[in-house]
Amino acid sequence: MLSSNITRDENGALRFAGQSVPALAQRYGTPLYLMDEARIRANCRMYKNAFESAFGGAALPLYASKACSFRQMYRIMAEEGMGVDAVSRGEIHTAITAGFPAERIWFHGCGKTDADIRYALEQGVGCFIVDGMEELEALNAEAGRRGVRQKILLRVTPGIDPHTYEAVNTGRVDVKFGVPIGTGQALDFVRAALNSPNVAVDGLHCHVGSMVFDENVFEDTVDLMLAFMLTLRDTLGYTAGTLDLGGGYGVRYVDEDKQVDIPGRITALAAHLRSRAAELGLPVPYILMEPGRSIVADAGLTVYTVSAVKRIPGFKNHVIVDGGMTDNPRYCLYKARYTVLHAGRETGETAVFDLAGCCCESGDILQPAVTLPADIRRGEQVAVCTTGAYNYSMASNYNRQGRPPVVMLRDGESCIAVRREGLEDLCALDV
Ligand code: LLP
Repeated sequence: MLSSNITRDENGALRFAGQSVPALAQRYGTPLYLMDEARIRANCRMYKNAFESAFGGAALPLYASKACSFRQMYRIMAEEGMGVDAVSRGEIHTAITAGFPAERIWFHGCGKTDADIRYALEQGVGCFIVDGMEELEALNAEAGRRGVRQKILLRVTPGIDPHTYEAVNTGRVDVKFGVPIGTGQALDFVRAALNSPNVAVDGLHCHVGSMVFDENVFEDTVDLMLAFMLTLRDTLGYTAGTLDLGGGYGVRYVDEDKQVDIPGRITALAAHLRSRAAELGLPVPYILMEPGRSIVADAGLTVYTVSAVKRIPGFKNHVIVDGGMTDNPRYCLYKARYTVLHAGRETGETAVFDLAGCCCESGDILQPAVTLPADIRRGEQVAVCTTGAYNYSMASNYNRQGRPPVVMLRDGESCIAVRREGLEDLCALDV
């Protein structure tokens, strides 16, 4: 199986986190997001332990909560001693109302409005990751009005191509995020920040992309960032104390995907960082990273019920389910690959189908060319694996579909973390 939390029982029925998927579908209905809480916690601990042994106490993983955000998730992050990366007032509000400490939130975003800035200052968010000059000026002014000195990191773009897909490639010089080093603008940005009395510059941030599999991407990033830190020291007399390297480690969606040895990569990265810093005569900065996908992706599984099976001889077959691009837009957006399994039985004689959603749009495909039992029929269930990251958080109400519930699985028990959106919820904002 793709992941150790996916198994089958003696009758061939799928189990997730040790629990029967058909029984959960029966109890909660479909479409249904299942989340394996033990896996989320294990992934957090994997990062925490790797950081502890690779960097000593001088590092902290921040969960990039854009990957999957709801209150129970932030409670888990608080208990696991993680920091959190939030990108909107909505994520900050969700975190804080779940009891997550505001000072452990790093506030991202390339288009923060005055209202965002005011809100985050009001809430006492620990650190702003300032994305550009206008934000710096607006934040400095607002912090001044409030009489506070806000801790910040400055987001710069190192000019790296992490060889991932276009929509998530964020390190290159010409992206909309941060301020490029290569053009000289980042130097002016840091100078301006150091001259802003109401912010305390804690260090630098960069994020080069998501779904990174290439071995040397983070090492190359460290080289560019340390070189820039040297420039800052030599020209401005400023030594950055913190370096945030962003998120991005890739995960396995299909058997052919490589397994990234994250603790191994972190150990190698720390060794590289120490030796480069020593070569340049720089102190080793405090390290932050912002994993999202690699914390929650393999903790998720989505269950659907088949509504229709259409066989078009000489052309193709479709299995149409009761969800689709509304609960998982990733194939539509990125041609993302997924592993699809029949939830009720092992595959005997098989056929190839497109797994399609129920939206009124022919592009509503969850995954093309999946192998399922040839006699699959209405009422049976299928599961899409590895849906913990960027599925619930990217879900929409297109076609006025309600979003599925998120059910947490823990120690053989299940409980609703986000309830199903019903018809009244869909009209809740209509006047
Ligand atoms: N830090 C920053 C500044 C980011 O922009 C991101 C992701 C992360 C951390 C977390 O990266 P991760 O560890 O999850 O790769 N919707 C797309 C992914 C967009 C990623 C955006 N930024 C998808 O479904 O693949």
